[in-house]
Amino acid sequence: MRVTIGDIREMKQRGEKIPMLTAYDYSTAKLVDEAGIPLILVGDSLGMVMLGYESTIPVSMDEMIHHTKAVVRGAKHALVIGDMPFMTYHISPEETMRNAARFIQEGGAQAVKLEGGEVVADTVRRLVACGIPVQGHIGLTPQSVNQLGGYKVVGKTPEVAAHLLNDAKALDEAGAFSIVLECVPIPLSRLITERVSVPTIGIGAGKYCDGQVQVISDILGLYTDFVPRHAKQYVKLSDAIVTAVKDYAAEVKSEDFPTQQQSYDMDESILAHIEASTQS
Ligand code: KIV
Repeated sequence: MRVTIGDIREMKQRGEKIPMLTAYDYSTAKLVDEAGIPLILVGDSLGMVMLGYESTIPVSMDEMIHHTKAVVRGAKHALVIGDMPFMTYHISPEETMRNAARFIQEGGAQAVKLEGGEVVADTVRRLVACGIPVQGHIGLTPQSVNQLGGYKVVGKTPEVAAHLLNDAKALDEAGAFSIVLECVPIPLSRLITERVSVPTIGIGAGKYCDGQVQVISDILGLYTDFVPRHAKQYVKLSDAIVTAVKDYAAEVKSEDFPTQQQSYDMDESILAHIEASTQS
């Protein structure tokens, strides 16, 4: 049975922490799902960690749908959330609806995520009314990096902190089923978590959030361009990959690979017959 937004809400009510991870492809999604992660985000972070863009801004709807389909094929149990890319939910209600519907209908996701607070509350309300579950995302919202002036903590001043609390309440009232808090100071994320009815999922927002989300490439040590402060590397697969690739190349050169075990044999008499009956 696939996880539902009701299951996620109940986890908050029970005080059970919610682990969430990103995934961008079939094989990784399958492993993350098998490990029991209930929420998988096909984040637009894929633009940076999978496609090598400098930010998430160039990511297109077609790219997101392509990766969402792959993740959904791999994840049989987790609730899969498709991240709406830059400017795909601002231009008009019709376009927003069409793009969100693509994630659900074409991509096979069960929910969408979008960045912003009060300014997107009406959008959230409209999507939820059409049957599309929405996850909010406030604090550091990477699609607004040019407006924010960089990737940094948000909510340290009284004005911005009050604004964030207001944003969280607006998303809660609009019907978002959960809210990502990115790079928000610990006391503020704690207050927001207490004041909203839906689960908060933190990334760089401290331990009092109802859940935590991480970019899979960060926790596995796969993305080497930049390691954010809020990321914990549970393993450094980049080193393991480089070592394995070097070992492979060395064995190809030394002719230690392939061995008999990685090769296929045939009856020598058949080869003798072919050699005799064909010309070189
Ligand atoms: O795109 C992404 O991966 C995200 C998470 C960091 C929340 O938005």
